[in-house]
Amino acid sequence: MKIALTGVKPTGILHIGNYFGAIKPAIELTKDYDTRYFIADYHALNIMKDPQALRESIREIAAGWLAAGLDPEKVIFYRQSSVPETFELTTILMAFTPKGLMNRAHAYKAALDKNIEKNEDADAGINMGLFTYPVLMAADILLFDADVVPVGRDQTQHVEMAADIAGAINYTYKKELLKIPQASVQDSVAVVPGLDGRKMSKSYGNTIPLFSSEKDLRKLIMRIVTNSQGVEEPKDPDSSQIFMIYKLFATAEEQSALRARYRGGMGWGEAKEELFRVVNRELTPLRNRFNEFVADPKKLDDILSGGAQKARAIASKTVMRLRAACGIQL
Ligand code: TRP
Repeated sequence: MKIALTGVKPTGILHIGNYFGAIKPAIELTKDYDTRYFIADYHALNIMKDPQALRESIREIAAGWLAAGLDPEKVIFYRQSSVPETFELTTILMAFTPKGLMNRAHAYKAALDKNIEKNEDADAGINMGLFTYPVLMAADILLFDADVVPVGRDQTQHVEMAADIAGAINYTYKKELLKIPQASVQDSVAVVPGLDGRKMSKSYGNTIPLFSSEKDLRKLIMRIVTNSQGVEEPKDPDSSQIFMIYKLFATAEEQSALRARYRGGMGWGEAKEELFRVVNRELTPLRNRFNEFVADPKKLDDILSGGAQKARAIASKTVMRLRAACGIQL
């Protein structure tokens, strides 16, 4: 089986956009690939300096992915920080990474451009973690012989950089030491609209959290922005974000029934009630499992430690292979 690997940066609360855009497709992939998924906690440290927030965010991701159905027997699921080989490989990769390559990385470039635009010192607020971010990410990937790396479009450049760095090492030592990874972006994944109609995103503050209480979930759904069409007026389902979200949760029959009600004229309030019903139906078991994990941090920790153990068995071999090739190991 081919190997698929991906990392999740723990920087906030999971929402239904993450669920349909990342979590569900990743779980689906476990059927056809040998999968390695991890929480990129040291990547998060670059931007999160509040220990309590970081800790909570790591738990949220771990509990969230497991509650959504990730099977730790099938997937190697671990925290990046529990695999110290990552950081040794990072050091090795640094010696093969041109600084110019890092200059072109988009996250760094965006920060730089912003400083220049604001007439600030070009390096203001930029730490080395941000600058070398793609090297750490390359280590995450190359350590585990990943064939494919499922990521969002914004991360493909980083995966290409990992492939470049691996190529440089293989070329230098005239040996296939590292597998060349490929990014895979799923274009078919639905864009989930947020409360205000724009793409659901933490940065827009328009999200529906995956694990909000039933009461909060209802409140949020009632806040979805609608137009001013009257109750009796026929409505177009395909231009309604209520309906777009509905499609993600409802059966085909439910969808055609709601379509017909839209066309016949139904109030937005009623449409939201129906949306809440199907969303809550799907999320209730997830929420219950999530709350169980949150109440039992030891169980969560045991699962992640088990994953780290399996991960390290693979990772240490990669590092040894490279040490030997480089001449570090006598
Ligand atoms: N940079 C990724 C993101 O922000 C997270 C990540 C870290 C990652 N290491 C990785 C993704 C390795 C894939 C493979 O989303």
